[in-house]
Amino acid sequence: MATIRLGDKAPDFTADSSMGTINLYDYLGDSWGILFSHPADFTPVCTTELGTAANFKDEFDKRNVKMIALSVDGAASHAEWIKDINEVQNTVVNFPIIADEDKKVSDLYDMIHPNADNNLTVRSVFIIAPDKTVKLTLTYPASTGRNFYELLRVIDSLQLTAYHKVATPANWEQGKEVVVSPAISTADAKDMFSKGVTEVKPYLRMTPDPTA
Ligand code: BEZ
Repeated sequence: MATIRLGDKAPDFTADSSMGTINLYDYLGDSWGILFSHPADFTPVCTTELGTAANFKDEFDKRNVKMIALSVDGAASHAEWIKDINEVQNTVVNFPIIADEDKKVSDLYDMIHPNADNNLTVRSVFIIAPDKTVKLTLTYPASTGRNFYELLRVIDSLQLTAYHKVATPANWEQGKEVVVSPAISTADAKDMFSKGVTEVKPYLRMTPDPTA
């Protein structure tokens, strides 16, 4: 197990899941992916997270992002737990949950942090680009549920900055002004961004969202 850093290739794996055997790379195909771990089945915060993820599936689909969850319980347990999630969150869990009983994937992705808990995965998130490189990692403790609006927001930023020479400022949301990449001169930026460039400082140039 090695720490996975930004730009690394996401390690491939084949594992059992709530939807049968799944291979990460085959499952993702040419899509973006989001892999997120949960401490355990039948736990309250995880139940809210997975229900929220299921209710947000259309938003992930719109962005061409495939979801894949993981917990260290088995597929039969996942199947029972999914019934509860669907009932209490009024949803249908419609993406695979890896059944990582032998902790093979958790170890591969360093999802167990022994100083937090020796046996349970923390709340890790990996966002994987179509070329299978890791574009974002996040780690939350078991006691803090993740914000799925933030996950969508960061995917919007990752997808925008992958294809345009821009960066996104603090609290940016889709459609708001973006920052011109520091590698581009203001003169070149004015040619490149037809919607205009505002030079706030020589190193801080703003332009409207090129995709809006
Ligand atoms: C939860 O998902 O609610 C949870 C799991 C492990 C520890 C604390 C909370």
